[in-house]
Amino acid sequence: DGVSIAGLRALALSLATEAGAAVRARRPEHVTVAATKSSDVDPVTAMDRAVEELLVARLATERPQDAILGEEGDDVPGTSGLTWVVDPIDGTVNYLYGVSSFAVSVAVVAGPADPERWTILAGCVHDVVTGRTWSAGLGEGATADGVPLPAVEHAPLGRSLVGTGFGYAASRRAAQARVLAEVLPRVRDIRRLGSAAIDLCLLAQGSLDLYYERGLNPWDLAAGALVASEAGARVVGLRGHAPGATMTVAGRGPALDQFVSLLEAAQADAPDGA
Ligand code: IPD
Repeated sequence: DGVSIAGLRALALSLATEAGAAVRARRPEHVTVAATKSSDVDPVTAMDRAVEELLVARLATERPQDAILGEEGDDVPGTSGLTWVVDPIDGTVNYLYGVSSFAVSVAVVAGPADPERWTILAGCVHDVVTGRTWSAGLGEGATADGVPLPAVEHAPLGRSLVGTGFGYAASRRAAQARVLAEVLPRVRDIRRLGSAAIDLCLLAQGSLDLYYERGLNPWDLAAGALVASEAGARVVGLRGHAPGATMTVAGRGPALDQFVSLLEAAQADAPDGA
């Protein structure tokens, strides 16, 4: 329908900042664990639900032909071939505990909400605590608070600060702990900050050198992956796969290739329990 990448990016930015303001406006005493999802350490707060409703309502008005996939269960079919992939609060556990690093993540992709088949067109990650807002459009570069992200030098693997995250299931975590034991002695240090979307934006701006995580969902990945790649980083999977559920690895230069080899050798993509 003639919509431009710049227009989609502007809408992603408007949606993410509006949703972020809604999250910020609530007081901490309003945080409640409304339900749990995959396991009892995976909280769904009432706020996650309310913010997803807000995003879906605005998209229904502004982009009624587009599909929507949201973390809290919205799966709205569309006719335009575009899909909005939204996470109302990425970093829910931080939000719940009042720890920094949670964000609203909004992306729009051409095709289905499937990292193997989509093309990410535009995305925005709004850090709710700091207000910092990263956005990117395909071929347009990435910005933080409207300022283009500068080129980042790549560090050698041994001096790389690495971000990662863990799944919620115990069997997955046991496997992730084994991989962590292979990675930790070979890098500068590891951070588990708690929001994959923010981790990818920190990597984009050079605040992390490498990032890896198993089991990311489309809504954790889409906006941050575009910000990172438009900032000049590479976002890849293992063994030639697209980044996504099996593994997402991001970084720059030879360190990224060495890190991918390390993760492949550590069988970081092996089935849980293998
Ligand atoms: C989680 C965060 C976390 C990552 C988990 C995600 P949520 O998203 O991105 O950093 O390690 O894999 O599920 O559940 O807070 O939206």
